Amino acid sequence: MKMQKFKFLHTLLLLIFYAKHTIAENNIEQSKKTYIVHMEKSTMPASFNDHHNWFESSLQSVSESAEMLYTYKHVVHGFSTRLTNQEAEALSKQPGILSLIPERKYELHTTRTPYFLGLDLTLASLDRFSTHLPASVAESEVIIGVLDSGIWPEHESLDDTGFGPIPSRWKGECESGKNFNSSHCNRKLIGARFFHKGHEQVSGPINEEKESKSPRDEEGHGTHTLTTAAGSIVSGASFFGLAPGTARGMSTQARVASYKVCWKRGCYSSDIAAAIDKAIEDGVDILSMSLGSKLDEYYQDLIAIGAFRATSHGILVSISAGNSGPFPGNISNVAAWMTTVGAGTIDRDFPAYVSLGNGMTYTGSSLYMEVSSKLLDTPLPLVYAGNVSNSTLENRCETNTLIPSRVSGKIVLCKRGGSGRFKKGLEVKRAGGIGMLVGNGEEHGEELVADAHLVPAALLGKKASDAIRDYILSCSNATATLSFGGTQLQVQPSPVVAAFSSRGPNPLSPKILKPDLIGPGVNILAGWTGASGPTGLEEDSRRTTFNIMSGTSMSCPHISGLAAILKAAHPEWSPAAIRSALMTTSYTTYTNGYPIMDIATQQPATPFDFGAGHVDPLLALDPGLIYDADIHDYLNFLCASNYNSSQIKVLARTDFTCVPSMTYRVEDLNYPSFAVPFETPNNSVQYSRTLTNVGALGTYKASVSFQSDTLVEIVVEPETLTFTELFEKKNYTVTFTSSNSVALGTNSFAYLKWSDGQHKVVSPIAFSWI
Ligand SMILES: *[C@@H]1O[C@H](CO)[C@@H](O)[C@H](O)[C@H]1NC(C)=O
Ligand SMILES: *[C@@H]1O[C@H](CO)[C@@H](O)[C@H](O)[C@H]1NC(C)=O
Ligand SMILES: *[C@@H]1O[C@H](CO)[C@@H](O)[C@H](O)[C@H]1NC(C)=O
Ligand SMILES: *[C@@H]1O[C@H](CO)[C@@H](O)[C@H](O)[C@H]1NC(C)=O
Ligand SMILES: *[C@@H]1O[C@H](CO)[C@@H](O)[C@H](O)[C@H]1NC(C)=O
Ligand SMILES: *[C@@H]1O[C@H](CO)[C@@H](O)[C@H](O)[C@H]1NC(C)=O
Ligand SMILES: *[C@@H]1O[C@H](CO)[C@@H](O)[C@H](O)[C@H]1NC(C)=O
Ligand SMILES: *[C@@H]1O[C@H](CO)[C@@H](O)[C@H](O)[C@H]1NC(C)=O
Repeated sequence: MKMQKFKFLHTLLLLIFYAKHTIAENNIEQSKKTYIVHMEKSTMPASFNDHHNWFESSLQSVSESAEMLYTYKHVVHGFSTRLTNQEAEALSKQPGILSLIPERKYELHTTRTPYFLGLDLTLASLDRFSTHLPASVAESEVIIGVLDSGIWPEHESLDDTGFGPIPSRWKGECESGKNFNSSHCNRKLIGARFFHKGHEQVSGPINEEKESKSPRDEEGHGTHTLTTAAGSIVSGASFFGLAPGTARGMSTQARVASYKVCWKRGCYSSDIAAAIDKAIEDGVDILSMSLGSKLDEYYQDLIAIGAFRATSHGILVSISAGNSGPFPGNISNVAAWMTTVGAGTIDRDFPAYVSLGNGMTYTGSSLYMEVSSKLLDTPLPLVYAGNVSNSTLENRCETNTLIPSRVSGKIVLCKRGGSGRFKKGLEVKRAGGIGMLVGNGEEHGEELVADAHLVPAALLGKKASDAIRDYILSCSNATATLSFGGTQLQVQPSPVVAAFSSRGPNPLSPKILKPDLIGPGVNILAGWTGASGPTGLEEDSRRTTFNIMSGTSMSCPHISGLAAILKAAHPEWSPAAIRSALMTTSYTTYTNGYPIMDIATQQPATPFDFGAGHVDPLLALDPGLIYDADIHDYLNFLCASNYNSSQIKVLARTDFTCVPSMTYRVEDLNYPSFAVPFETPNNSVQYSRTLTNVGALGTYKASVSFQSDTLVEIVVEPETLTFTELFEKKNYTVTFTSSNSVALGTNSFAYLKWSDGQHKVVSPIAFSWI
């Protein structure tokens, strides 16, 4: 008893001491940065019996005060900590230190953020997937881990009725914290963890009034992505009556685990690395990540490193390509060991109609639903934001720019861009406006995305908004009537590639085509948090269990869920095999044979826009042949990419050295697609590939088709491959010879198809003259 009291007093004293210490050190603390420190496993001196002690001793040798945020087991052999520049430099010179990677901020790939936003995946197309898929007990053995903003565990999409026991190999946990405890998990949501140390070091303590330091999702994004991947079937779902029907994730039977790494102020690499580390240990089969940052070399990008480690454990990593389209090459998450997902529309729309005083009518898009009869019946005065703001350049309805006396009682035309579209609506409301039209500029063209505005509002394409602006400027009495059309189905053409979807070419590895494929990512209905409204704004007091969102954040979990189904159907398939099946069976034309369009250019989309095309889950179940690859193939790829041994070690964790006498070529990585940059016209390059038979034995014949002009001669050798047993492998080479009259800057596209008459194993080919 006495002893305990003494101990308590001692602890208290220490705490007081540390508190003082911390205050004194505050200034120094501020100049510290978080680093993820990789140590070289094999160089641990024999005097240490445990790696943790070795890490600690290395750290203490440069800093007395630095504490470890995390120690990692799988993603990194090492730890993360806060260091000053000097300490970091000193540490990097210590024996056994492989690399120090500074903390990096990542963002979720939803378009609800200012610059982007898009359209959707219809329930109709979800149902199309569902009716044909084999029901399978095996599916419930597959576990999807989702790194995101956490989970709203009470959501009806997480109902576990009818689920059998949790797979016995599962080692995950349901961690407790504010508003969350172990009883929030069930046989559907089998794990939930949260990672906040890195975030708090940068952004300060989490405000627990606003977000729970626990796996609970107050943001909504994490609940949306997780339920898209693997939500249970919920009938009667809708968004305030819009998009009504049955909501279901791609894999209704798969188990899910939530890893909360994103907080209100972003997601940080030390937390993400810790989450991937745990996910590997817990036993997930698929990792779904709808987040990214600007591109960095693979050995400095914790997501690329984490994905490499996950892949080496047989985990498929499905990740969003980003929402930085349609500019060429502005794509993230391009490593060859990830499945990189772009976004297309679905066949559902939410039209809004604008009729002007001059008799013209235009169709835009909106999720506004409290349709006021006054708006429907009465033309209202219409003004252009550029004429009613206190700055002549300000036509984007940024906060505190509209002049109330000129806006009151009117509809305002605002330009897209700058502040978020919901915020523009709030600004119009603040200034006394009644309605809003948001007009696309060059950047977004004719892309329409439906937003759950708080004021009557619609988004319009560039052509319509230019015409409306011209009309306003041409007279002094412009008027508009705004009305809303609800849910429209069977919208054609669909899919089209979303303008926001990030495009190739791949800036880091130009000979690897990215994105890999596209999935539904515009106006997707999925589960939502009970803690915030659909716009995420504090002013939004609406609550809904389903929300409609757009972004590659939304298309990624579609592919994650479909990958889970393939994994269930073919437990022996590697991550590369699953990706290959999804890619080689994707489609690039509509059922009428016309090519899938790109909304940004209003032209046929290309493999730089959609990779192998739009996912077709049913065909993917039976691809005939696959392009397989394992971790050694990726190591060879790193050698071919001229990474040196320490850079490779950061990714590989093993003592892998490139053999000087061997020729490593990126062209030989067994990828299901081809990117062929020609540095001069009229040169010739050879790529080699290996096909593995996964079902249909017989003879496959190669054929080639061009998307437009034939600027390249393509020779496949051999032209036929005969498979006589399951898992048999056959090699082929393909030689691309550029004709000598091609201008630099030209792109050209083709497809290579292997077919036995029934299966079509199609690879896109993207040529560029650089
Ligand atoms: C967990 O939380 C729920 C509701 O929030 C509560 O009813 C339950 O008693 C808690 N369980 C444990 C084990 O703390
Ligand atoms: C690429 O995307 C980022 C993030 O969206 C954006 O800030 C940047 O301007 C884009 N760059 C180009 C060249 O389009
Ligand atoms: C409205 O703005 C346009 C474009 O900025 C300008 O040309 C026009 O003169 C303005 N009209 C009024 C009445 O301010
Ligand atoms: C416009 O008005 C707001 C406040 O009403 C002010 O904050 C802003 O600086 C003004 N901008 C200009 C360009 O005058
Ligand atoms: C608006 O003004 C134009 C002339 O500028 C006139 O022809 C037209 O009738 C007016 N429309 C309305 C609805 O008052
Ligand atoms: C690998 O390259 C990095 C960056 O240029 C360098 O710091 C490092 O020392 C190199 N390692 C080896 C083993 O050459
Ligand atoms: C096929 O290619 C692989 C990888 O390049 C090689 O290891 C193998 O020997 C080749 N097989 C044949 C039969 O040429
Ligand atoms: C490429 O150039 C060579 C001569 O340099 C010529 O013989 C050959 O026909 C050219 N090939 C093509 C496809 O233009």
